[in-house]
Amino acid sequence: MNREEALDSIKANVENANLVRHMLATEAIMRALASGLGEDEEEWGLTGLLHDIDVELTEGDMHSHSKLGADLARELGANETVAHAILCHNETQGIPLETKLDKALFCADPLAGLITAATLVRPDKKLAGLEVGSVMKKFKEKSFAAAVNRQQIAQCSEIGLELDEFIELGLEAMKGIADDLGL
Ligand SMILES: [Fe+2]
Repeated sequence: MNREEALDSIKANVENANLVRHMLATEAIMRALASGLGEDEEEWGLTGLLHDIDVELTEGDMHSHSKLGADLARELGANETVAHAILCHNETQGIPLETKLDKALFCADPLAGLITAATLVRPDKKLAGLEVGSVMKKFKEKSFAAAVNRQQIAQCSEIGLELDEFIELGLEAMKGIADDLGL
């Protein structure tokens, strides 16, 4: 599977433009992580890109979410490493994180959410002027974007990153595709 095929499948299964943007943001963070950790950028990027492909299909059923996504990824030709990372990014499945890819997706997904939320409360709603310190402040402010799981983000330590490093990497990655994100 190449990126274009993954995007075609996303277009076929996801209507919500913001959900597509969330997957693009997660893809960008995953690529940056792979690059920083010397891992496979294509593989990690595709994992981020596809991770929520089943969200509309599963209609909020958290027991199906990510199971179906992993199946769809396999159908597209993803390997078991990618499918496993997608499967266990949803905590409801109760599947332990095993590989570095599992751990990376698990913390990159909510970081994409936190950075997006921190951008949308800016007067200009643009990523360009957003700084690491502001995102860190929002991270600590528990009532802000309360649905974003801070503990999950903090698990970046499991892949050897300090929180501020991780936020900086994620922020730069998302700034790099700001136009695609509409931010
Ligand atoms: Fe997600």
